[in-house]
Amino acid sequence: MDQFVIQGGNRLEGTININGAKNAVLPILVGSLLTQEMVILNNVPYLKDVLIMNKLLQKYGAEIKSKNNIIHIKSNILKKTELSETMVSKISSSVLLVGALLNRFSKVKIPLPGGCNIGTRELDFHIKGLGALGANIYIKNNFIIAEANKKLKGTNITFKFPSVGATHQIIIASCLADGETIINNAAKEPEVVDLANFLNSMGADIKGAGTSIIRISGVEKLGGTTYSIMPDRITTGTYMIAAAVTKGNIQINNTKIDFLKNVAEKLREIGVEVIENNEGIRVISSDEIRPVEIITKVYPGFPTDMQPIVTPLLAIAEGESTIQENIFNNRYNHVVELRKMGANIRIDENIATINGVNRLIGSQVTALDLRTGATLILAGLNARGKTIIDNASQIERGYENIAKVLNLVGADIERRF
Ligand code: EPZ
Repeated sequence: MDQFVIQGGNRLEGTININGAKNAVLPILVGSLLTQEMVILNNVPYLKDVLIMNKLLQKYGAEIKSKNNIIHIKSNILKKTELSETMVSKISSSVLLVGALLNRFSKVKIPLPGGCNIGTRELDFHIKGLGALGANIYIKNNFIIAEANKKLKGTNITFKFPSVGATHQIIIASCLADGETIINNAAKEPEVVDLANFLNSMGADIKGAGTSIIRISGVEKLGGTTYSIMPDRITTGTYMIAAAVTKGNIQINNTKIDFLKNVAEKLREIGVEVIENNEGIRVISSDEIRPVEIITKVYPGFPTDMQPIVTPLLAIAEGESTIQENIFNNRYNHVVELRKMGANIRIDENIATINGVNRLIGSQVTALDLRTGATLILAGLNARGKTIIDNASQIERGYENIAKVLNLVGADIERRF
């Protein structure tokens, strides 16, 4: 078995501490390959995706020691290797290895990456960007092959869409290039800023991260560093919704509302009390859950990763809500599963129309991807009776000890292996 079993209906009360951000630590782990000196990372979340990324780096010869949310990495001796499709296919961030390794090897060959099945995960911006930096890069038999016989050369790159991954890719690839690289229409997500801050702490020269124009001046060498990963804003948002769907009252620490202003505003519109305090954020649910309209956008708009996660709350709102998903072209896996729990949701192309019901009903459902899994846990916390979630390990890709964390504030979740 690979299940979470949830007895719904408990009101959540207490304090939750947020772990480091999955979507910041993954590109940062890849960025650590750019130096041969020791890199120490603090506040690293204990997640399956991090363990997989560590294994990929170790395959190339990186020495990694990991204990109590701290990782020591030394990549002074790297060896050419072939990564297996099974390893690479688990996480989309594996594609970032291309840009990093082009600074260590003249040829890089890795299988096309995987990750959540939430739509076509194109890579054209990555490929065009690395090509513009001087790599000869192409896809053949499901592998990405990139060659660069000399140093990459800084250049001007404009993305058609502010892709988070492609922005990470070009920042990492151009840190040690000859000359300046300018990324126009860059992603502005906080995880991009965290990657830039990390690389700058190693001696990189990156300006403008967090805006749509990022300038990277190539430097000769990068040194070691000690760096603390930013808090996970999607995990923060997930636990905010956990309070809201259980009529709970939760204090969420080691996090900041700055990264989630849009989500906080939307929750207040729904009727949830969101209070910023010195330790973090207090979330107090109310009896009234109002329907709203949500449109996902790139940062600082409402994040696509919170789109499935807010759905269980709208599924028990008093009236009709709509959600428009604009980032991924197939991010409604969770709807089929929520319908099994009594949710009344209609999908027309990229728009979900949700008519609230009084309460969800416990059922057997499947975590089809990471955020669908988190969504089903939230639905199970609200539901009448027992909810069994299959494929529970999908959820542990992105949430550290989620059952333990929620049980400490009053949930009743059992992990079955
Ligand atoms: C990152 O994915 C995150 N993953 C995603 O979180 C997040 O949803 C996404 O950014 C958007 O914020 C990680 O950081 C590991 P994109 P990424 O490149 O980099 C299209 C989670 O649940 N696109 O901004 O893959 C693409 O098809 C995950 O934690 C191209 O067309 O996102 C998609 O429709 C899910 N060509 C859109 O851009 C490209 O070359 C957004 O993709 C690249 C992307």
